[in-house]
Amino acid sequence: MSRDSTGKILSVAFLLCLVCSILVSTAAVVLSERQERNKIEEKRKNILQAAGLYQEDLSIAEQYARIEQRIVDLQSAWFTEQFDPATFDSRAAARAPETSRVIPESLDLADIKSRSRFKDVYLVMDDGQLQQLILPVHGKGLWSTMYGFVSLASDLNTVNGFAFYEHGETPGLGGEIDNPNWKQQWRGKKIYGEAGEVRIKVLKGAVDKTSADAVYQADGLAGSTLTARGVDNLLKYWMGEDGYQPFLARLQEQGLKR
Ligand SMILES: Cc1cc2nc3c(=O)[nH]c(=O)nc-3n(C[C@H](O)[C@H](O)[C@H](O)COP(=O)(O)O)c2cc1C
Repeated sequence: MSRDSTGKILSVAFLLCLVCSILVSTAAVVLSERQERNKIEEKRKNILQAAGLYQEDLSIAEQYARIEQRIVDLQSAWFTEQFDPATFDSRAAARAPETSRVIPESLDLADIKSRSRFKDVYLVMDDGQLQQLILPVHGKGLWSTMYGFVSLASDLNTVNGFAFYEHGETPGLGGEIDNPNWKQQWRGKKIYGEAGEVRIKVLKGAVDKTSADAVYQADGLAGSTLTARGVDNLLKYWMGEDGYQPFLARLQEQGLKR
C-alpha cells in the first residue's frame, strides 16, 4: 500500500479519532468528581453571597458552617425530617412523580411546569435566633431556566440579597443579572405589601427612587426585558401562594419552634 493510499489515510484518521475519543472520555470520567465538587462549592458560595456573608479570603467550608440546611414541605408549609438535607436533591425531587407537583398553567408564572413539593432552605442562625432565611428560586428567562437564591432578613419580608448561580442568558444582555450593581439594588427591597400581597416588581426601566413604591421595585435590564420579566415572574411565583408564602406566614406567626 502506498503512503498516500486511501486505505492508509482512512486508517490514520480512524486511529487519530480513536485516540482522541479515549483521551476525551478519560478526561470526562477523571474530572467528573472534581466538577461535581466545584459545582457544590459554587452553589455554597452563591448561598453565602445571597446572604451577604461571603468573604474572599476565608474558605467556603469555614463560612458555610454558619448555615443550617433544612427541608420544607410546601404542602404542609413546615419543615420536614423526611429527607437527609445533605443528600436531598430538589431537582431530582421535581422530576419524581411521588415528590413533585404539576403546576396548573394558570399558576405557573415561572414557566417551570412542575416543582418539587419539598425545598431545601438555608437558615443563618445567631445565638438561636434566625438572622436570615435563604430560599432557592428558579424560573424561565429568555433562553434558559435561571436558578438563584433569595435571602430574606429575619422579618421574612426584606431582601438581604438575590443572586443567580446558574443560567444560560446571553452575556452582556440577560447575563447582566450577574452584574454586581444590578444584584446590589435588591438589598433592602420588600417582597410583601401591608396586606401580605406579593408586591415586588421588576420594572422595564429604572426605579424612581423618590417614589413611595421604590422599596417594592427593582430596575429592569436595558435591552433584556425578557430576562427581566422572567426574574419578575419567578419571584412572584416562588414568593406567592403556590411557593413559599404559606410557609413564611407560618414561620412568621410561630417562630422556629412548633
Ligand atoms: C443574539 C441575541 C441574544 C439576546 N439575548 C437576550 C437575553 O439574554 N435576554 C433578553 O431579555 N433579551 C435578549 N435578547 C433581546 C431580545 O430578543 C429582546 O429584543 C429584548 O429582550 C427586548 O428588550 P428591550 O425591550 O429592553 O429592548 C437577545 C437578542 C439577540 C439578537
